[in-house]
Amino acid sequence: MLTKLAVLALSAQQISAFPSLLSEAFLNKRNADPAPAGSPCPHMAAELAKRQAPGVTPPFNAAEQYVSNVGANQFVAPGPTDQRGPCPGLNAMANHGYLPHSGVGTINDFITGTQTAFGMGPDLASFLAVYGAIFDGDLTSYSIGGPVAGLLNLGGLLGTPQGLSGSHNKYEGDVSPTRGDLYEYGNDYLVQLSQFTALYELGQQNGDSIDLNVLTNYRVTRFQQSISNNPYFFNAPFSGVLASPAAWSFIYRFMANKSSEYPEGLLTGDVLKSFYSITGDYPNFKYTPGYESFPNNWYKRNPVDYYTIPYLSVDTLAMALAHPQFLSVGGNTGKTNTFTGVDPAALTGGVFTAQNLLQGNNLVCFGFEASLQEAPDLLSGLYSDIAAAIAALTTAVNKATAGLGCPKLSEIDTAQFSNYPGYTKLSKTGTY
Ligand code: HEM
Ligand SMILES: *[C@@H]1O[C@H](CO)[C@@H](O)[C@H](O)[C@H]1NC(C)=O
Repeated sequence: MLTKLAVLALSAQQISAFPSLLSEAFLNKRNADPAPAGSPCPHMAAELAKRQAPGVTPPFNAAEQYVSNVGANQFVAPGPTDQRGPCPGLNAMANHGYLPHSGVGTINDFITGTQTAFGMGPDLASFLAVYGAIFDGDLTSYSIGGPVAGLLNLGGLLGTPQGLSGSHNKYEGDVSPTRGDLYEYGNDYLVQLSQFTALYELGQQNGDSIDLNVLTNYRVTRFQQSISNNPYFFNAPFSGVLASPAAWSFIYRFMANKSSEYPEGLLTGDVLKSFYSITGDYPNFKYTPGYESFPNNWYKRNPVDYYTIPYLSVDTLAMALAHPQFLSVGGNTGKTNTFTGVDPAALTGGVFTAQNLLQGNNLVCFGFEASLQEAPDLLSGLYSDIAAAIAALTTAVNKATAGLGCPKLSEIDTAQFSNYPGYTKLSKTGTY
């Protein structure tokens, strides 16, 4: 599939025009789609619609966008029983009272918290939160770190929910920006300083600015590292094609500091260090797991510019257009440098093809819809009766895809994954 896709890759000229391609694609998307799809809030939809004209940058309003890190939102380090895990955004939120300090929250805690602290659209937050509750919690709440016993124990759980840290291939995937691949490092939730430092350096070379172009280039490097170093690398339909690109775009889209000068945000090395719990001066960085923090005097996204599912769709597609290997579901077959892609048409019964994945919202459609088709395999190790979990996920996928014009995927052929130990190691037990 890599070769097939290479044919589809844009010309070198177009690739070098990537940064502007990204914003143009974004604006065209908004023009084409005046009612922001998937946005459950009519007020926000109306506000977003006002900004359809090309060339409009988001407004900046200091009072609305300032995120407090004092008083009730002062940093409090996690204690020994508090959970922190692979997501730096959620870790920072828990340290600053934007999520329960325990690191265990309900679906609503995550929707409210991500909006208040970062300006995540409620459509995207709802899906991410429900997905976490189903796959890593007890259908209503989940841990942002390791296993927590004594959640409400709904839904006929077979064991202790594993939390985000134990969600490899369900939520957490290979090719993370700063976290190591599970089968390379034995954990998938700690910062690998080599990876953080490499990203920091690229930002310095770009005038102390970590933007989407820097991130996309580093993602290419990380993808190749997984092929070269992780015999069990697996780029899964949901965690690889949807969750992983989100993790990459979130670094700039959420962590960047918004201002009237940089309404879309400027992400400096110092701000990155704060959100990633890194202290010390380059190159002598020190990582303290779980101490992620909101920097002083930091500003989130404007309320009319929340990061929604359609917005993520455009970012995901822009990265994949420039580097089609990102949408290559598949992996290494047990040895390094054996990456083999699955033909999307064979996987989806022809609903998605290498060509149409790059059209419209199909890429994120595939990610969302595949999560539902993969679910029975992944859930059978978690719940005695998977019906309630499937029903909740079906509702969440339907909501997430409602305005995206997705082709209907009604099955995936998971037999296509039988040659990938990164997949088979996992699906037998429902956890790794
Ligand atoms: C309900 C909301 C959220 C959930 C359930 C969630 C979950 C996750 C998970 C499971 C990962 C690991 C993915 C991987 O393998 O790379 C991750 C990574 C990440 N998340 Fe979140 N997240 C949420 C919201 C946020 C927010 C608001 C931010 C804002 C900064 C954020 C920033 C990131 C980043 C930057 C990474 C990549 C970490 C790295 O490897 O460097 N997330 N998240
Ligand atoms: C965010 O930008 C504003 C305006 O330039 C600046 O005053 C503030 O210090 C910045 N915050 C951080 C954390 O860099």
